[in-house]
Amino acid sequence: MKLLQSTVLFNIEASSRYKHMAIYAPEVIDECIAGQFFYLKCSNHISPLLRRPMSIYKIVKEKDEVHFLYLIKGEGTKSLSQMQAGEKLDIFGPLGNGFILKKEWKNLLIIARGVGLATMAPLIDLATKQGKTTYAILSARSKEDILSANYMKECGAQVILVTDEDGNSDMVYVRKLIESMIDSKSIDALFTCGSKRLTNLLKNISLQYKIPGQVALEENMGCGLGMCFCCVKPFQRAGKIINLRVCSEGPIFQLEEVMEI
Ligand SMILES: Cc1cc2nc3c(=O)[nH]c(=O)nc-3n(C[C@H](O)[C@H](O)[C@H](O)COP(=O)(O)OP(=O)(O)OC[C@H]3O[C@@H](n4cnc5c(N)ncnc54)[C@H](O)[C@@H]3O)c2cc1C
Ligand code: FES
Repeated sequence: MKLLQSTVLFNIEASSRYKHMAIYAPEVIDECIAGQFFYLKCSNHISPLLRRPMSIYKIVKEKDEVHFLYLIKGEGTKSLSQMQAGEKLDIFGPLGNGFILKKEWKNLLIIARGVGLATMAPLIDLATKQGKTTYAILSARSKEDILSANYMKECGAQVILVTDEDGNSDMVYVRKLIESMIDSKSIDALFTCGSKRLTNLLKNISLQYKIPGQVALEENMGCGLGMCFCCVKPFQRAGKIINLRVCSEGPIFQLEEVMEI
């Protein structure tokens, strides 16, 4: 993990609400793992004071590039969206723990929604490079918001889209879809990010079918380093409730331990 000035290579519109940014960061490229995040200083002004956490979307080792795919939400991401190619971006990272892929897992099922799609893309790339098969159910408000589907396909995933607009993103339909894939594809592990409802659903399925899973969680952050306890969430472990920091003990957690209700 390093604190440094990277160079913005591009920061382009991915849709009306999302932008895709690439930075040149040779100092940290070899440390980056799918599931980790960077803590970005979105502006050179006093406000917004706090950095904003952003998942690694792509790791392009041969070009020393780290990419982010982000929703323009409030003050921080609005400032970020105004950065131009060639400008310096103050980055801190990579932070947190990435996804862990067990050797014996062959078939992975990934379910992501909204900004969670950005976090899942490098997991698919990593899994494919390890010879695993990935199936991805991608959920969003509309097809326009399913931005990384083509990239995920390029990385080797078999992709199914569900959207609010098409009326097939509800939990009943998605549960049936997941269960049919578990039956037909011998799924060994489950992964999710971007929706509390999907996380709860997947935790339920994980416990019912005894399939292990991991979830990438989001929380507002202060230090990003494990020192301020601003990002603490409760988890269930060995019959007890424990508090863990999303920035340092996460952002990837075991699905069975999560309490996203
Ligand atoms: C690990 C991680 C990975 C993420 N990856 C992505 C990604 O890949 N793509 C993506 O689009 N989004 C991602 N997010 C979400 C992203 O960080 C937020 O959307 C972003 O921080 C919003 O900032 P904003 O200033 O634009 O929005 P705002 O709406 O201005 O800020 C968000 C809200 O939180 C408040 N807030 C911000 N920080 C704090 C804080 N530390 N303490 C208390 N309140 C605070 C703000 O005041 C505001 O109310 C990720 C979040 C986490 C935790
Ligand atoms: S943000 Fe400070 S402990 Fe997590």
